[in-house]
Amino acid sequence: MGALPWLLLLSLLQEGPKEILETAVGPQEVVAVLQESISLPLEIPPDEEVENIIWSSHITLAIVVPTKEGHLANVTVTDPRYQGRVSFPSPSYSLHIGNLSWEDSGPYQAQVNLWTSQISSLQQYNLRIYRRLSEPSITVNFEISGDGLCNVSLTCSVEQAGLDVTYSWISREDGVDTAREGSVLSTSWRPGDHALSYTCRASNPVSNMSSYLIPAGPFCADLRYPSEKASASFCLLVKALLLLLLLVTLATGLWLAQGQKGCKIPRMKKIRRNRLRLRKTDTPGNPPS
Ligand SMILES: *[C@@H]1O[C@H](CO)[C@@H](O)[C@H](O)[C@H]1NC(C)=O
Ligand SMILES: *[C@@H]1O[C@H](CO)[C@@H](O)[C@H](O)[C@H]1NC(C)=O
Ligand SMILES: *[C@@H]1O[C@H](CO)[C@@H](O)[C@H](O)[C@H]1NC(C)=O
Ligand SMILES: *[C@@H]1O[C@H](CO)[C@@H](O)[C@H](O)[C@H]1NC(C)=O
Repeated sequence: MGALPWLLLLSLLQEGPKEILETAVGPQEVVAVLQESISLPLEIPPDEEVENIIWSSHITLAIVVPTKEGHLANVTVTDPRYQGRVSFPSPSYSLHIGNLSWEDSGPYQAQVNLWTSQISSLQQYNLRIYRRLSEPSITVNFEISGDGLCNVSLTCSVEQAGLDVTYSWISREDGVDTAREGSVLSTSWRPGDHALSYTCRASNPVSNMSSYLIPAGPFCADLRYPSEKASASFCLLVKALLLLLLLVTLATGLWLAQGQKGCKIPRMKKIRRNRLRLRKTDTPGNPPS
C-alpha cells in the first residue's frame, strides 16, 4: 500500500460533490406581509461564472441556470406550490415570491455553484409572514367608589392580530407624549382632575395602527350626568311655575283694576307692586338664549 489509495481518494474528492461553505452569521431574518410579495436578496460573487443556483425551502424550490450570453436564466421551478408565483430577476437571481401565504413562512436557502470553484456558498434565510394590523378596538371598564374616585381600565385589542403584536397606550399632556406598554391601561380619575386622553397603538413587525383618542374622564363624569340633568330640568320647572304664577297675578291684577272703578289709589299701588315683582323675578331667571 503506497501512494495509490491517496491518489484515488484525491481524485474522488475532486470529482465528487462540491464542498459547501455556509455563511457564519446564520440565517437572515426576513419579514413579509401576507398576500403581498417579498424578495430574498442573493449576493453572488462578482466576476465569477455561476453554474447554477439551487433555491430551496423545506424541499428544493427551483434551479436557476444563468445563460452565457445575456442575463436571461433557465429557471425550473420544482415545487408546484411556488409555480407561477416566483421569479429570479437578474443579475442577482434573488428569489422573488408573490401572493404570500402562511405556508410560505419558514427557512429558505440558496446554494450558489460556481464554475470556477469547488466551493459552493450557501445563503440562508428565515421568512416570517404577518398580517397588516387593522385599527385597534377599545373596551372600557370603570368603577366608581363612594368618594368619587373612578378607576378606569382601557383594554386594546386587534382582530386577527397574530403573533408578535405589541400594544402601548399613549397619553398626551402639555404636548408631551407618555407611552405605557401593555394592552390594558389602568388609571384613576377624580372629579376635578383634568381628563387625560389616551390612544392605543398596536404594532407588529410589518405595521402599526393607532386607535382614536379616548378621553378617560367623561366615562366617570357620565355617571353624574343623570342627576345633573334631573336638577336642571327641576330648575326649569320651578321657573315655569313662577312665571305662571306671575302671569296669573298680573291677570288678576288687571281684572281687579278693570272691575273696581273709582278706587284709584289702591289700583296704582297694586300695579306698581306687580311690576316690581316682575322685575325682581325676571332678572335671575333670564333665559340665556
Ligand atoms: C432549461 O433547462 C431544462 C432542464 O435543465 C432543459 O431541459 C431545457 O432545455 C433548458 N432550456 C433552455 C432554453 O436552455
Ligand atoms: C393568492 O393566493 C390565494 C390562496 O393562497 C388565492 O386564493 C388568491 O386568488 C391568490 N391571489 C392572486 C392575485 O393570485
Ligand atoms: C381603585 O384603585 C385603587 C388602587 O389603584 C384601589 O385601592 C381602589 O380600591 C379601587 N377602587 C375601586 C372602586 O375599584
Ligand atoms: C408606523 O408605521 C409607519 C408606516 O405605516 C412608519 O412610518 C412608522 O415608522 C411606524 N412607527 C412605528 C413606531 O413603528
